[in-house]
Amino acid sequence: MKKNKNKIKTETNCNVNPPQFIPPIAGEVRGSSLELGVIYHTPALLTETIEGLKIKPDGVYVDVTFGGGGHSSEILSLLGPNGKLIGFDQDEDAIKNALDDPRFIFVRSNFKYLKNFLRYHDIEKVDGILADLGVSSHHFDEAERGFSFRFDGALDMRMNTKSPLTAAVLLNTYTEEQLADVFYLYGELHNSRRIAKTIVAARATTPFKNIFPFIEVLKPFFGREKEKKDMARVFQALRIEVNIEMDVLKSLLEQSLEVLNPEGRIVVLTYHSLEDRLVKNFFRSGNFEGNLEKDFFGNILSPLKAINNKVIIANAEELERNPRARSAKLRVAEIKG
Ligand SMILES: C[S@@+](CC[C@H](N)C(=O)[O-])C[C@H]1O[C@@H](n2cnc3c(N)ncnc32)[C@H](O)[C@@H]1O
Repeated sequence: MKKNKNKIKTETNCNVNPPQFIPPIAGEVRGSSLELGVIYHTPALLTETIEGLKIKPDGVYVDVTFGGGGHSSEILSLLGPNGKLIGFDQDEDAIKNALDDPRFIFVRSNFKYLKNFLRYHDIEKVDGILADLGVSSHHFDEAERGFSFRFDGALDMRMNTKSPLTAAVLLNTYTEEQLADVFYLYGELHNSRRIAKTIVAARATTPFKNIFPFIEVLKPFFGREKEKKDMARVFQALRIEVNIEMDVLKSLLEQSLEVLNPEGRIVVLTYHSLEDRLVKNFFRSGNFEGNLEKDFFGNILSPLKAINNKVIIANAEELERNPRARSAKLRVAEIKG
């Protein structure tokens, strides 16, 4: 894991001048239409998200996790002729959902390159940023993407299919210690060391390739009652590591301070406690540890003001309609004027 942590740091540092930054010639698409009849993703906490952004008709907004474009469509509907919306997604599949509207620009890239792409489009400041983190229903429902243990797809889990690190590569090449760290840090699994040891022993005879044989190897660790929950934690851990999710989130939050206008809003939807803790700390204190700095009078010195101190979650009506919103947590912050 140590070796890998260094690798992660290098990736994040790339934000300064990333070698992977490619001007969006091939990656940028304007104007293709939504595929009719296919539900790509149902946006979670739609009303609350839009309220959180406090949209100004002439404002510039960025949806850094465009996905099926559900949140973006709503944002666009509230913008006037001079408003602008930039949608990022690192997954090629999302391109087909790009909105057919001259006020919309699609950028196929990781949001860790937010500043670079805004600069490329001559945009210095924005009025709002939306991040609806993690993967879409489309990812979970496509067997070959490897995000769901319901299917015997390839152990892939990459949101950006051009990235070299798949879950299979990770499982077949990480050291026992690195694997244990991934399961402990990102899956919060207490038997992470024993799981890592078993994986290393199993791959010595047959390298991991597909999901079902991997699940068979892990089954002895999980009791029947909690099997699904524990397996979900294993998959969550692998996905976070494969997509370097925690580091790119940190990078996004830091960049938001530079690109948001005074009183600009950032709205983040998280789906697990590790992300939520990071966002909560950052919104309150301006740092990831949540260390509160105060002035002489006891006022908190943070560039952001948290708009909701209590996290917003889906109500019963939404959960009935969209059970996948059950783990969604929404937080809103504003840059101090
Ligand atoms: C939960 S879905 C967003 C759904 C969207 N709000 C909607 O209404 O359809 C998350 C999307 O963000 C993308 N994504 C996740 N992390 C990303 C990152 N670091 N950079 C760019 N896109 C990312 C995923 O590929 C996925 O399509």
